Amino acid sequence: MSEPQRVVVTGGAGFIGSHVVDAYLARGHQVWVIDDLSSGRRENLDADAELLVADVGSPEAADLLRQVRPDVVNHHAAQIDVRVSVDDPGRDARTNILGLLNLTEAAREVGTRRFVFVSSGGVVYGEPEVRPTPETMPKLPLSPYGVTKLAGEYYLNYYRRVHGMEYVALRYSNVFGPRQDPHGEAGVVAIFCNRLLAGEALTIFGDGEQTRDYVFVKDVAAANMLATDMALPAVDGDGADLDDVAFNVGTGLATSVNRLADSLEQVAGLHPGRDYRAGRPGELRHSTLDAGKLRGRGWAPQATLTEALQQTYEYIAQNRTGAT
Ligand SMILES: NC(=O)c1ccc[n+]([C@@H]2O[C@H](COP(=O)([O-])OP(=O)(O)OC[C@H]3O[C@@H](n4cnc5c(N)ncnc54)[C@H](O)[C@@H]3O)[C@@H](O)[C@H]2O)c1
Repeated sequence: MSEPQRVVVTGGAGFIGSHVVDAYLARGHQVWVIDDLSSGRRENLDADAELLVADVGSPEAADLLRQVRPDVVNHHAAQIDVRVSVDDPGRDARTNILGLLNLTEAAREVGTRRFVFVSSGGVVYGEPEVRPTPETMPKLPLSPYGVTKLAGEYYLNYYRRVHGMEYVALRYSNVFGPRQDPHGEAGVVAIFCNRLLAGEALTIFGDGEQTRDYVFVKDVAAANMLATDMALPAVDGDGADLDDVAFNVGTGLATSVNRLADSLEQVAGLHPGRDYRAGRPGELRHSTLDAGKLRGRGWAPQATLTEALQQTYEYIAQNRTGAT
């Protein structure tokens, strides 16, 4: 276990961020959270974490960093909806770019050692030719959301090279687990759980043979702990490239929507039927990540897909409010 550190987690009241907060607290670190509660919930947050309800782009958020002088900023807050980013790229950029810069400037001022930045392996590679996709594949995002995630990595690379602030970019695949709401990149798991619990048919867009790489949120939290402490290559020499400090976080396993539906029906012991609808234009057909680099640093998914789906289903069953 590392020395106790002062950590600010943005988006810490959200689905993934709240698990990351739990993992930092379990390691004895002191945790502050910045979250505007736009999709996050107070109930997700451990009482030992101190919450500032604020926009990451606000003066209050920057002031918190100046007061706390964190060793580490772990940045999960984001506008996460691809469709919102397409409809309103300015809104997406305000949170994902200007919000990030508000924090990096304050972090630089107070000498923050490391920034852990959450990127997305589901979007930065566009339609990759190689699957599972390694970090070195061309980055060609197809949405404003994907562009902001990649831009975030470039901005942090600037801070690293010019101001000496370390960072690690974690490029997640489709994350699922307890506290997930139906709107994120792997929202299908939560949507299916809710429909099963309501006794409603599972809606599938297209033929259901499109595949994703589903990674459990507790394994993602463990990846964040590793990213907080791992040794990084020097900036000079081999260490100057974006991909040197970027790590895919995924299982490398391709799971089709049909297979996911089968597994969840089995977990629930319910078979309310399937409702196949027209495929959604622009949706990626296949996406899986090669996380060999992170595995080389000692990370490995701990739960099988079925075990993790079981935990997720049970959580949603216990906490649902009737919405599907
Ligand atoms: N869920 C996935 O499969 C997935 C995949 C790749 C990357 N990510 C990234 O992981 C991070 C967390 O996503 P999540 O799925 O937990 O979603 P989430 O909506 O639960 O978490 C986002 C959190 O950020 C907060 N937030 C949003 N805008 C804010 C702002 N302007 N100021 C302060 N707080 C703000 C929200 O209230 C919420 O608590 C995001 O950066 C997302 O892009 C998620």
